[in-house]
Amino acid sequence: MSSKKTLSMAIAATIAASGRRWAQDATDTPGLGTPLSEEDLAGLSTTVFPDGEGLPPGGGTVQDGKVVYQDQCAICHGDKGEGDEQFSVPALASDGKPDHGFKWSTGHAWPCATSIFDYVRVAMPMFDPKGLSDEDVYAVTAYVLHLNGFLPEDGEVTQESLPKVKMPSQDYFTSKWEKEESGYE
Ligand code: HEC
Repeated sequence: MSSKKTLSMAIAATIAASGRRWAQDATDTPGLGTPLSEEDLAGLSTTVFPDGEGLPPGGGTVQDGKVVYQDQCAICHGDKGEGDEQFSVPALASDGKPDHGFKWSTGHAWPCATSIFDYVRVAMPMFDPKGLSDEDVYAVTAYVLHLNGFLPEDGEVTQESLPKVKMPSQDYFTSKWEKEESGYE
């Protein structure tokens, strides 16, 4: 056997052997972590969709929300949700149409009340995100809606009613998907 042929057979054998090893490695795991249980997943999967899908059971009142707000939000967002331009804290409430820059307010720019619940539950208060109970998030969402004039002082929101709150800015948004489906008629 020529030495060239011996060399190429040796290379082929090495490739075949390492190929088998790779194939074997692919079925082994590096042993990192353990599979998530349905229970673990439920705790992590907290997204609330615009139509209310994903909202937890329960609700909260404007009055309870006022207490949570004054305790945990007013220091940054102001007593009436007016925000703080100096520290780039957005306004949560205003009495007018959405505008650019600092005149933007959550209440008049966000099209879905459910998004306020979703955002606050995940990201606020800034110094303690995910620190509020679902009841407190419902209540403070009700209070933010009240500060904007969308709920009376004795109002409340629940899992069923929050998706039905009509936000004024719904009129300023159009759905790209609906338009695409209708072929931009
Ligand atoms: C330590 C200051 C601080 C506290 C306390 C705080 N926030 Fe915020 N909040 C911020 C800042 C800063 C932003 C802007 C974050 C960004 O855009 O990344 C924000 C953003 C928000 C937004 C989104 C506003 C928008 O239109 O983009 C909401 C809603 C909100 N906060 C609600 C709350 C509520 C309700 C509480 C109390 C439970 C709270 N925040 C407590 C500082 C704070």
